[in-house]
Amino acid sequence: MTTYFNYPSKELQEELKSIAQKIVAPGKGILAADESVSTMGKRLSDIGVENTEEHRRAYRQLLFTADDKLAENISGVILFDETVYQKADDGTSFIQLLRKKGIIPGIKVDTGVVPLMGSEDESTTQGLDDLAKRCAKYKKEGCDFAKWRCVLKIGKNTPSYQSILENANVLARYASICQSERIVPIVEPEVLPDGEHDLVRAQKVTETVLAAVYKALSDHHVFLEGTLLKPNMVTAGQSAKKNTPEEIALATVTALRRTVPSAVPGVTFLSGGQSEEEATVNLSAINSVPLTRPWALTFSYGRALQASVLRAWGGKKENIAAGQGELLKRARANGLASFGCYEAGSVKGAAGDTGLHVADHKY
Ligand code: 13P
Repeated sequence: MTTYFNYPSKELQEELKSIAQKIVAPGKGILAADESVSTMGKRLSDIGVENTEEHRRAYRQLLFTADDKLAENISGVILFDETVYQKADDGTSFIQLLRKKGIIPGIKVDTGVVPLMGSEDESTTQGLDDLAKRCAKYKKEGCDFAKWRCVLKIGKNTPSYQSILENANVLARYASICQSERIVPIVEPEVLPDGEHDLVRAQKVTETVLAAVYKALSDHHVFLEGTLLKPNMVTAGQSAKKNTPEEIALATVTALRRTVPSAVPGVTFLSGGQSEEEATVNLSAINSVPLTRPWALTFSYGRALQASVLRAWGGKKENIAAGQGELLKRARANGLASFGCYEAGSVKGAAGDTGLHVADHKY
């Protein structure tokens, strides 16, 4: 094992560190609005709206033209490639709109999951080949961070060594390419909540996966201060008995403390099919665990920030303000949760406490 390698230049370290720290500034988190065309189609069909480019643009415009107060709790938005080049009705590009609000645009750069041959239905994530070129292009367009999602499944024999090792390595390679192009990588090894496993099993799998990810990041000389982690919360499987927020919080923080170096500035959880309310209550409990937490612990929610927005909007012009109101409310609730200060049940959304789980979820 070689010990001869180079740290990034001082300038690059400073740039990456400062972007990462802004994203996890106190009370702030990320809106994940990077649904692919087909995933967005499913969200739109749920509310009876056809999946056209114009409808996807109109919906993202609703999100990005919400009141400037949004920036009090949303520091970054993850975009999908199509959205990077779209504009609001008045011709302002979405990226400019976000930047004017003080929100940092980010970009999903993986191109999706593919099967691992010989495995029990496990996967890796692709998109490395032209990644440096794409990162350089997105940086020019105004994106300062990126996301790459890997998926791990809990089963009788999974996750396998093959999938743990492969996904850790591909995340590390992605992270190092992003940093070389001055983009902060969000490293997302999602352990899916599908299954009947209990909380302890979920904790052990999450610990094993995260330990492998940080070993790979070290092997690839990734500059940890300029990265963020986007993990699952540790929860029992969807088909198992639910634990209390306090049990989930303790298992989650314990797993992170055992595996995530304190050089990492922040952890931005995915919501993973939890209802809006559950995702907020659990984040608040996580920030109330009586253990030292050396990183910011906040949100990077897709479904749990958008379910009520979609429901309230329903594809109708006259409901745009109502949809934006839902977004502001949920962002504020999660902002409070990032301080451990959200009172359960205090923010009611149009989607109520509807579960948002999708089996074998694709993004
Ligand atoms: P959910 O919050 O809907 O799980 O999605 C977050 C995300 O970005 C997954 O990659």
